[in-house]
Formats: sequence, structure tokens, C-alpha cells
Amino acid sequence: MKGWSLPTAAAVVAATIFFSLSTMALPAASAIVEHTFVVSQMNMTHLCKETLVTVVNGQVPGPTIEVTEGDSVIIHVVNKSPHNITIHW
Ligand SMILES: *[C@@H]1O[C@H](CO)[C@@H](O)[C@H](O)[C@H]1NC(C)=O
Ligand SMILES: *[C@@H]1O[C@H](CO)[C@@H](O)[C@H](O)[C@H]1NC(C)=O
Repeated sequence: MKGWSLPTAAAVVAATIFFSLSTMALPAASAIVEHTFVVSQMNMTHLCKETLVTVVNGQVPGPTIEVTEGDSVIIHVVNKSPHNITIHW
């Protein structure tokens, strides 16, 4: 057997072009999603009672992180609360 027949080579080229086009047609490739979380304490009223609450960017629950599979996530955490903290996802 010597090399590929012409129809086989043409099929390979066609498949390669199809694959390249379908790859290009995919939505944006992986992105870098970056956020800054400022952790602090706020007095909040809950059921008529004022409580000291640990918040992220002034809100509870903290901000939503929206990503697509394959994205990279970078979160800068600035701890302005008087306590040592850990953040969990
Ligand atoms: C929360 O309220 C208390 C009592 O009024 C006050 O001493 C404290 O400074 C307040 N803390 C914050 C983070 O606002
Ligand atoms: C926070 O952690 C550091 C290092 O372990 C410790 O020295 C410090 O006392 C802690 N601060 C508080 C407020 O717990």
C-alpha cells in the first residue's frame, strides 16, 4: 500500500476543515473571572432585632460568581472584619 488514495486524502482535508470550523463556531473560549470580596461587619435588623453580621461587599449572602466550565476564577479577599476568616464555595 502506497500512501492514501485521493478520495481518502480529500476526506481527511474535508474533515479537518469541518473540525476547524466547528471549533471556531464554539462560544468564547475559557475566560478569567475576577472579583474582589471585601469582608466586613454590619449591623443588620432581623426580626426586629439588631445583629452584627459578617458580610461580603455589604451583602448577605455574598455576590454570585457566574462562570462557565473551563473558566479560571480569581478572587481577591480583603478582610476588614475584626476576625480571621475563611471563605468557602
Ligand atoms: C453596631 O452597633 C453597635 C451598637 O450600636 C456599635 O457599637 C457598633 O460599632 C456597630 N458596628 C458596626 C460594624 O457598625
Ligand atoms: C488571626 O490569626 C493570626 C495568625 O494565626 C493571629 O496571630 C491573630 O491573633 C488572629 N487574630 C484574631 C483576631 O483572632
